Amino acid sequence: MPGIRSARSAKKAIIGGLTMSKQDTAVFDDLLREQREFPPTRAFAAGANARDRSLYDRADKDLLAYWADQASELSWAKPWSKVLQWEPPHARWFVGAKFNMAANCLDRHLAGPRRNKAAIIWESEAGEVRTLTYLQLHREVCKFANVLKELGVAKGDRVAIYLPMVPEAAIAMLACARIGAIHNVVFGGFSPEALSERINDSEAKVLITADGGWRRGNVIPLKENSDRAIESCPSIRHVVIVRNLPGEHHLLHVVEGRDHWWHRLMDRRSADCAPAEVDAEDPIYILYTSGTTGKPKGIVHAAGGYAVGCYATCKYVFDLRDDDIFWCTADIGWVTGHSYVVYGPLLAGATILMYEGAPDYPDKERWWDIVERHRVSILYTAPTAIRTCMKWGADLPAKHDLSSLRLLGSVGEPINPEAWMWYQENVGGGRCPVVDTWWQTETGSIMISGLPGVSTMKPGFAGQALPGIKAIILDEQGKEVKEGSGFLALTHPWPSMLRTIWGDDERYVKTYFSKWDNKTYFAGDGAKKDDKGNYMLLGRIDDVLNVAGHRIGTMEIESALVSHPAVAESAVVGKSHDVKGQAVVAFVTLKTGLKFDDSMKDTLKKHVVDKIGALARPEDILFASELPKTRSGKIMRRLLRDIAEGRALGDVTTLADPAVVQALREDYEEHYGG
Ligand code: PRX
Repeated sequence: MPGIRSARSAKKAIIGGLTMSKQDTAVFDDLLREQREFPPTRAFAAGANARDRSLYDRADKDLLAYWADQASELSWAKPWSKVLQWEPPHARWFVGAKFNMAANCLDRHLAGPRRNKAAIIWESEAGEVRTLTYLQLHREVCKFANVLKELGVAKGDRVAIYLPMVPEAAIAMLACARIGAIHNVVFGGFSPEALSERINDSEAKVLITADGGWRRGNVIPLKENSDRAIESCPSIRHVVIVRNLPGEHHLLHVVEGRDHWWHRLMDRRSADCAPAEVDAEDPIYILYTSGTTGKPKGIVHAAGGYAVGCYATCKYVFDLRDDDIFWCTADIGWVTGHSYVVYGPLLAGATILMYEGAPDYPDKERWWDIVERHRVSILYTAPTAIRTCMKWGADLPAKHDLSSLRLLGSVGEPINPEAWMWYQENVGGGRCPVVDTWWQTETGSIMISGLPGVSTMKPGFAGQALPGIKAIILDEQGKEVKEGSGFLALTHPWPSMLRTIWGDDERYVKTYFSKWDNKTYFAGDGAKKDDKGNYMLLGRIDDVLNVAGHRIGTMEIESALVSHPAVAESAVVGKSHDVKGQAVVAFVTLKTGLKFDDSMKDTLKKHVVDKIGALARPEDILFASELPKTRSGKIMRRLLRDIAEGRALGDVTTLADPAVVQALREDYEEHYGG
């Protein structure tokens, strides 16, 4: 199959960072020429929420009316006076409206047949299954909302959530939304230091954590991490601990008056809690994400518009219907977990499957076993997970009845056509459409994707911009690129866009709305488009890495490295990785007189894990007697990337001392055997 052959050769270029060299562009051109296409099947299109292009036409004709239509399917305590107020680069959507997210996710469904339907089916790593109907979830959320109030949390206060994938995570988020508090979920894989930085930046009053999380049968000590984190968090007044470990683990350090068990607080708490009147523009949450500086950005989303984006994409991209069991494998600590584990599916009244543990525990068939037992109908995961499953072998999904699946999704990084095909054939049985969905923490909901009942899917392409979304590819000067690759940009505001960066609006303006003018959103991704307007994403073009679908800034890792007393200077780059997409490679220069050996490498790797978390662990650390710099002193990362990838070196004419690069390269080749 020629498409697949070329896909294989293109893989290296597609996964991993954007280089946009002529050589790579040629590979993409091959892919464009030999592309296989997958038009929607008649069977799928016949029952789909979106069956034809009328949605695109409606949005093209009147974009604001399109969004108002979508919004009017949700319930608003007070209607808006204006759909959009755009004072570039600040947007306000559904101006003047009052909107409560929790009421829309829960109360709205209670009057009808969804009342006793499963909202969440949760499976623990050990195999325990818990189901919460919409009515039960509503009750738990109201009770916990009352708990939060009693702990002194008021509208607009921040609440940090550092939990594993347990139903309490969703309950805590929804309880915050119910009283208008702003949650700040921190991924359970982050270190105490990373947690503390996020708590301090948002000045959270309460931290919700668990005694521990499970990963491959091992305990992740979330409470211990929390204790270490809040040593330096003066804003935290209370810690709520969810019990997630069996009896023998309960010898915890509990601080009287500060620490409270979740189940004790919930005991006999009233389930009566009216949803707070929240302005559509009030923040629903802050979620920290990596940028190009060492300091993570607190992305702020607004309740009303965010809900509309999540709802519309669930309806059209995932074609969510009442009999679906929707499984998004993302952790709650990432935006995908916010939009498509919790808010979107609940707004759509779907049943969510939530799984706490690892895909290979107790064996590598766990996911397929879950799909089979729970009759999952929609599976949404990341390319890195698909590539891992490919490695484990097609015989594993083949042993299971996956006939309940009707739609597959991919998110987080470019999916190489080979993985796309494998997913479609071996998981989707050749019958399920695959949606490759491009979006970001900042965009709140999916921006670019095919619609499964309408679009012809092309492996390696995320598809067209969704109805109501205006995308374009621009060059450095802001001129449209019709052929070839350039910078992906969004030219019109959209309801679920970020509103600002918490406490740093200047950074918001500078990062997203200053590259060309103050109206065009700079996404930070490279892209290329075919003649039908399908986008192929080429990876980040800034100093942000995408490691196993996790976004991490090179500067954050560099700051972590130089905080070690042995390190004088460091530069971090990404290197293509077959499974993770990108892997972290760090170059370090040590302080005079120190020896670089394997033990130093291990020490530095561990130091990064302690500082940030295991997700940032460098795959390799290379010694450099000097880092390559321009005459003005800027580290030439492009050259380091070339060295890390084993590529021919790029332009070195601006380099202060070309011998530095040669020395580095020799070190690297010696290390990897050339
Ligand atoms: O580089 C793009 C990549 O992930 C980045 C956003 O990361 P984050 O904010 O953590 O959100 C991830 C989940 C939405 C983007 O800038 N990315 C995300 N989805 C895709 C993608 N790259 C290519 N194809 C995708 N489908």
